[in-house]
Amino acid sequence: MAYQTLTVEIDDYVALIRLNRPEALNALNAQLLGELGDALAEADRNEKVRCIVLTGSEKAFAAGADIKEMAGKSFVDVYTDDLFGAEIDRITATRKPIIAAVSGYALGGGCELAMACDFILCADNAKFGQPEINLGVIAGIGGTQRLTRFVGKSKAMEMHLTGRFMDAAEAERSGLVSRVVPAAKLIPEALAAARKIAEKGQIAVMAAKEAVNRAYETTLREGILFERRSFQALFATEDQKEGMAAFLEKREPQFRDR
Ligand code: CAA
Repeated sequence: MAYQTLTVEIDDYVALIRLNRPEALNALNAQLLGELGDALAEADRNEKVRCIVLTGSEKAFAAGADIKEMAGKSFVDVYTDDLFGAEIDRITATRKPIIAAVSGYALGGGCELAMACDFILCADNAKFGQPEINLGVIAGIGGTQRLTRFVGKSKAMEMHLTGRFMDAAEAERSGLVSRVVPAAKLIPEALAAARKIAEKGQIAVMAAKEAVNRAYETTLREGILFERRSFQALFATEDQKEGMAAFLEKREPQFRDR
């Protein structure tokens, strides 16, 4: 499918999705969010895709929701349309892993989009922030909840109340990103991580993603029970037999996603 606000390249079982609205620093408008939802759903269905990398430009992953598009809307408009609700639900419904590769600004909805992915790799020039307070609003795509879970209350509260940005080093120190890499290496590193995931048995990959995400949705007791049942269920797969046999026979496993 051809998109106007993003590009999709598929190679070696990895889909690289690049947000592409350079004139607005990849600000998230309705068209971009709709196309992103379509591209992710298509990647989820495509047997040639096992992992997804979502990125922007060197200057901006995304500078937030599109302020020009939002500025004139009323409460009735955004409430009736449930602004950003359906869009973000489509993104988080993706079952294949999504790595956010963040270079430059990830602000407001851009930071929230990165946090809605499964993990974030960032370039050393990355800047994260929730500056909605400067616009007379607050985060609306999960930022008050997800940032707080990532970095704790004190830092999240400061960022939401003052609008200050966090640089890459602070983001890594705080647990917001898994790793910082030099800007020129961001995409190769993200693709390498994605290819590593693509080599695994995909039933276990999907189960691991579901189980880790449970940690954000439920109590410790329920989450551990969910994990235990998923772990046990994986013994019904051929990949479990193959993975353990390969280890014992000192060879590489040949997973078949069964
Ligand atoms: N929406 C719409 N357009 C945006 C935008 C946004 N969020 N961010 C940047 N742009 C546009 C600018 O208007 C500008 O376009 P024009 O040349 O047509 O004026 C173009 O992108 C380049 O931006 P700047 O000239 O401002 O670039 P800069 O390098 O001087 O500054 C920046 C970069 C610090 C990121 C600055 O653009 C900025 O502060 N952007 C807004 C950040 C923000 O407030 N994000 C939160 C949005 S609200 C939100 O996201 C709500 C939510 O949670 C759901």
